[in-house]
Amino acid sequence: MCSLQALCSGLPLRPLPENQGRWAGVPHAPVRTPGLSPAEEQLALKNALRYFPPDVQEVLAPEFAQELRLYGHIYMYRFCPDLEMRAYPVEQYPCRTRAAAAIMLMIMNNLDPAVAQFPQELVTYGGNGQVFSNWAQFWLTMSYLAQMTEEQTLVMYSGHPLGLFPSSPEAPRLVITNGMVIPNYSSRTECEKLFAMGVTMYGQMTAGSYCYIGPQGIVHGTVLTVLNAGRRYLGLQDLAGKVFVTSGLGGMSGAQAKAAVIVGCIGVIAEVDGAALMKRHRQGWLMEVTDSLDHCIERLREARKRKEVLSLGYHGNVVDLWERLVHELDTTGELLVDLGSDQTSCHSPFNGGYYPVQLGFAEARSLMASDPTAFKGLVQESLRRHVSAINRLAQEHFFFWDYGNAFLLEAQRAGADVGKPGANRTEFRYPSYVQHIMGDIFSQGFGPFRWVCTSGDPQDLVVTDRLAMSVLEEIVAGGVTPAVKLQYVDNIHWIREAAKHQLVVGSQARILYSDQKGRVAIAMAFNQAIARGELKAPVVLSRDHHDVSGTDSPFRETSNIYDGSAFCADMAVQNFVGDAFRGATWVALHNGGGVGWGEVINGGFGLVLDGTEDAERKARRVLSWDVANGVARRCWSGSPTAYEVICQTMREDSSVAVTLPHAVADERVLQALQQ
Ligand SMILES: NC(=O)c1ccc[n+]([C@@H]2O[C@H](COP(=O)([O-])OP(=O)(O)OC[C@H]3O[C@@H](n4cnc5c(N)ncnc54)[C@H](O)[C@@H]3O)[C@@H](O)[C@H]2O)c1
Repeated sequence: MCSLQALCSGLPLRPLPENQGRWAGVPHAPVRTPGLSPAEEQLALKNALRYFPPDVQEVLAPEFAQELRLYGHIYMYRFCPDLEMRAYPVEQYPCRTRAAAAIMLMIMNNLDPAVAQFPQELVTYGGNGQVFSNWAQFWLTMSYLAQMTEEQTLVMYSGHPLGLFPSSPEAPRLVITNGMVIPNYSSRTECEKLFAMGVTMYGQMTAGSYCYIGPQGIVHGTVLTVLNAGRRYLGLQDLAGKVFVTSGLGGMSGAQAKAAVIVGCIGVIAEVDGAALMKRHRQGWLMEVTDSLDHCIERLREARKRKEVLSLGYHGNVVDLWERLVHELDTTGELLVDLGSDQTSCHSPFNGGYYPVQLGFAEARSLMASDPTAFKGLVQESLRRHVSAINRLAQEHFFFWDYGNAFLLEAQRAGADVGKPGANRTEFRYPSYVQHIMGDIFSQGFGPFRWVCTSGDPQDLVVTDRLAMSVLEEIVAGGVTPAVKLQYVDNIHWIREAAKHQLVVGSQARILYSDQKGRVAIAMAFNQAIARGELKAPVVLSRDHHDVSGTDSPFRETSNIYDGSAFCADMAVQNFVGDAFRGATWVALHNGGGVGWGEVINGGFGLVLDGTEDAERKARRVLSWDVANGVARRCWSGSPTAYEVICQTMREDSSVAVTLPHAVADERVLQALQQ
């Protein structure tokens, strides 16, 4: 077995590691069907071989050709390390700068089999969220990071490490771009081809930017979503005895079961893939499992009656579950579900993201590879049945929302009845959770801030939880508006309870929704604790790309932007550039992520706090811009909440000056246009 030292010493070539192919016992990505022409196949193989000197190409060429034929992509399985992949503590990585070691820790975490969805295919979550395109890129990146100094920056082109280039200690150590293609060529078909040729990559959000922290990353958001859905749709603070039905127990969707239990309701989650379902069950995130619809309904009735807190995994297709709920309603008059959503990977519906109800799991995997056109037809028919069952239930006291997976968008493309008369282009019959449920939190500057303790010591996480909680309590005690206080109270409750729910999978990480003031204050408190030695090692600050200013996504993060700019992506690009020159340790900009290729531009950052004054200065600048950018944009596009928040920011910081919109009366516009 190789060591961490060896892992950071460049591609192992002499001797070549043994080719063990695909391992048994770990989930594997579905076969991809890029539809390459013979010339494109040649290019794909040539591109893969250029990582290797000619003397080993003779062995590797036929092997890579075989991978391309069998799996639709060259992953280079031979180079899959035999070292246990996990977030080793920061001091164990060979390095010349601590920042590089922290980045290595984050990469290793994204590829940890306990964390990653398809570890051997370098997919962290979301079905196709790649960390790298192939294993050669992984080895080279680790070796560049091990050599890198404070005077260099590593440049990543969609998984490919272009190399180290001179920069400065002020510059990011790493700049990542994923999936950046010329806009007119940003179609799904093109993406599949370019990925197979090894020249682009779908980095999802935090997969290709190395900032994934396991399903915990979404648990907090899902808790807030289900809680607020209960408040908004059912008028309830307490969800005891209420039923939430959804699908998906994968990378992010696995959070739904845990969230249902945290909010105290009954969560029934359908999952077609037995391996994904059992992984969550083993982790203790899913209380009970069944593959019988009869048992599922019986258990659900019983739990409702007794107001039990329950997460129940149904091993089967979610459409069967919805149709059964309709059957129960139509035959007994009993509505067994109150809230509903969906977290299949509809951002990639024809490559294993969405399994059609007409086929079993294995049958579906085989058809998607052998006859992609027939498979697509079945997926679309299944989506129509899916929506029609939901529409029937929604005639009663049942509420459904789109949970950011492009479900309604794909259902609409499949011809399902999801339209809303008189709606604008980003609205459907059911709301997006961002528009309706989360409220205008992005305008307030609240979003999924997160951190990772690079010591790997759970005790450090306990200390950071405590520090973050007292920082938030101090801010509330200092006086905030009632709307902001509501957010703070939920977030203080979350951080107080977080450790009890054993949310850590992989690195010692925590997610905590916070606004600009909270994020900066938490960063300062952590940095001082590192300086005092209260925390044993640096802390990486980051956030989900799904945040105030990280993401331009017209059906999700920016679905409530109504000035016509929802289809523009200046905010995310400005965010990436602005974070970079203000002191982020690394930055990333992605095409695709969450809702799919070509549908969104999003960016993220990582910032290493090491207890120095320099780190404090950088954190203050980066975190302020990282939030203020999005609030100012939301203010300009007409959000009154954002207007208030940005005015407050300007009062508190005289170096901020924002263009504020004037009120424009509709009559003035109409009259002028009619003249
Ligand atoms: N709401 C958010 O903030 C948010 C955050 C991250 C990801 N997402 C999106 O949510 C989706 C899910 O993300 P993920 O990381 O969990 O993906 P995933 O691919 O790991 O999980 C989806 C699961 O759905 C299952 N599935 C597919 N079709 C099914 C069907 N018809 N019935 C039952 N189960 C079915 C799959 O087997 C898979 O395990 C993605 O589209 C992702 O982009 C949303």
